[in-house]
Amino acid sequence: MKKILVTRKLLRSNEDKLKDLYDVGLNLNDELYSQDKLIELSHGCDGILSALTDKLDKETINKLPDSVKILSNFAVGFGNIDVEAAKKRDIVVTNTPEVLTDATAEIGILLILGACRRASEGIEGARASNWKWSADYLIGKQLTGARLGILGMGRIGQKIANIARSLGMIIHYHNRSKLSDDKEKGAIYHDTLDKLLSVSDVLSVCCPASKETVNLINKDAIEKLPKGAVVTNVARGDIVDDEALIDALDRRKVYAVGLDVYKGEPNLNPGYMKHKSAFILPHLGSATKETRTAMANLAIDNLTEFFDTGDCKNKVN
Ligand code: GLV
Repeated sequence: MKKILVTRKLLRSNEDKLKDLYDVGLNLNDELYSQDKLIELSHGCDGILSALTDKLDKETINKLPDSVKILSNFAVGFGNIDVEAAKKRDIVVTNTPEVLTDATAEIGILLILGACRRASEGIEGARASNWKWSADYLIGKQLTGARLGILGMGRIGQKIANIARSLGMIIHYHNRSKLSDDKEKGAIYHDTLDKLLSVSDVLSVCCPASKETVNLINKDAIEKLPKGAVVTNVARGDIVDDEALIDALDRRKVYAVGLDVYKGEPNLNPGYMKHKSAFILPHLGSATKETRTAMANLAIDNLTEFFDTGDCKNKVN
């Protein structure tokens, strides 16, 4: 029986499935393993079922025992893993695409709604019973008729576009390549990021994190947005320069932000705290029972496919 280290606690049904299939090292207390502890626990293991909270950088990967042949990441994103370093050591890296598209797009829409319609301030007022209806109380930005700029029109971007279209938003996007008409569904393609930014009343960051996208939304990029734009990020914190975004909120260049992800999670840059217009969630993108179950099942299937065939369709390196 192959031996697997599972770095984070999973839902019960997924852990039961793992126990049936593998000699499995579970993390029942859901401790956040240090890199040293992860290396130590992986001794004798054939594979690791990792999570986005595990920093599997080059140094850590180079210290993994030779027995480890696969890192099955429990996420669609794999920015937490140095995939090149893994490849050099002949370690396959896999991810969990498709199964989390719907749940993540729902949160992408919640960010847009929450930021545009001043949900943080509204919740605060309602909970404190200190609000008073008036014609101009918490006036926000209406989505109907607003231009939504989607950066990264992959599965999640397309699903956000579909929902936003039904809310009456006009969809623009920038992507490495233009989509076919049936996927585009009338969305307007921009071949550069700058062009997309200049028409984005609301920006939705949906692209993968990679070396090329670190701080892509920086001071220069933010300046290209229309004044009073709304910036939302459902992808990865690394893509946005928080200092630049907070400065833009300070200057009212940016009206509001909606973030499900940010740099240094779980520690939020304190600059956001002074802005009531910041609608911020704790990385909830895939957090539904259906989706987390499906993600873990896929991460397990990826292990099985790899051990059975030596390859895996969800291999990313
Ligand atoms: C969630 O953020 C994921 O990448 O799966």
